[in-house]
Amino acid sequence: MPKVVTLPGDGIGPEVTAAAVAVLREVAPDLTFEEHLLGGAAIEATGEPFPQATRDALKTADAVLLGTVGGAQNSPWNQLPRHLRPESGLLALRKALGVYANLRPVRVQPGLEHLSPLKPELSRGVDILIVRELLGGIYFDQDRKIDGDTAYNTMRYTTPEVERIARIAFWAAEQRKGRVTSVDKANVLEVSELWRRDVTALRDREYPRLHLNHEYVDSVAMLIVSDPARYDVIVTENLFGDILSDLAAVIPGSLGLMPSASLGDGPGLFEPIHGSAPDIAGQGVANPAAAIMSAAMLLRHGLDQPHAAAKIDGAVSQALKTAPTRDIGGTAGTQEFTAAVLQALGRA
Ligand code: NAI
Ligand code: MG
Repeated sequence: MPKVVTLPGDGIGPEVTAAAVAVLREVAPDLTFEEHLLGGAAIEATGEPFPQATRDALKTADAVLLGTVGGAQNSPWNQLPRHLRPESGLLALRKALGVYANLRPVRVQPGLEHLSPLKPELSRGVDILIVRELLGGIYFDQDRKIDGDTAYNTMRYTTPEVERIARIAFWAAEQRKGRVTSVDKANVLEVSELWRRDVTALRDREYPRLHLNHEYVDSVAMLIVSDPARYDVIVTENLFGDILSDLAAVIPGSLGLMPSASLGDGPGLFEPIHGSAPDIAGQGVANPAAAIMSAAMLLRHGLDQPHAAAKIDGAVSQALKTAPTRDIGGTAGTQEFTAAVLQALGRA
């Protein structure tokens, strides 16, 4: 029986996580759940944002479902030293799991094109998966320094690092339209030259059926908002992926619609991209769609249950039409939306 460690966290985290767990129980009755503390909730109970009991639970987990962490701007948690704040618990969690691939689907739901800042003819049918390398590159390389009026950072990648992230992109593309766009800046960066060479070699060796093309990051920044339909799976390094995924996140038009997965060699981490929304926490009005779609990603990418995952995604699309929440122009609360998802699952 696969074990899912749940970390509801703070703010609306517990509300949206409860919704996701209810949906998982419905489609995957073989799962077991074990709830633990992270973030502000953990600070209140133990004095630490990522306590030992949570750390220990990861050892026997098959997947981790996370809500959100963090308090309001004036929260006492924000007066603590940086390493004791809620957000540092999340960073420590990601590090402990060794998750090197961040997956962010960018989907415009049918019927919700009007929420997108893009024109409806551009946003209609957008369905992109951004695969970002998460542990390497210029953010982490130790060859870095600021010295007087000179400073530098280093973008460095090795072939094994490139191959492991590319393999995840190819694997995901096999379950989608089979098209991968690798994003780099190979006209000016050596590291991109290696990236391009290794991604191409891996495709030729292991995924000859997939279509692979290479595009420059500056060009992708333009095309992802002016012609998003051209993309299926996008794979890129850490810095480029950080910027492109935040840019693309505006396309669906609501934070409440954006799930994510972070994968490594052990259990994966699945979480909505939105924060703890202190302004609406405890009111029962949060949109749990992102958390529920993160649960679908948990089944698809974490536990290899793609059929159950697809059922959830279909039911969420239904519920977005029949019981839209406030953030997307409706009136349904968290529980009403969740009930609509469960009802759609019952019909499926
Ligand atoms: P936020 O994402 O929590 O909220 C931004 C706005 O979007 C708010 O008006 C909120 O009500 C709304 N919103 C977000 N999720 C929603 C949902 N599911 N349904 C309906 N409305 C939703 O970002 P903010 O306000 O900048 O950060 C609040 C706290 O969350 C901070 O402590 C921050 O550090 C933390 N945070 C945590 C993240 C995580 O756990 N991964 C990610 C981003 C922020
Ligand atoms: Mg960012």
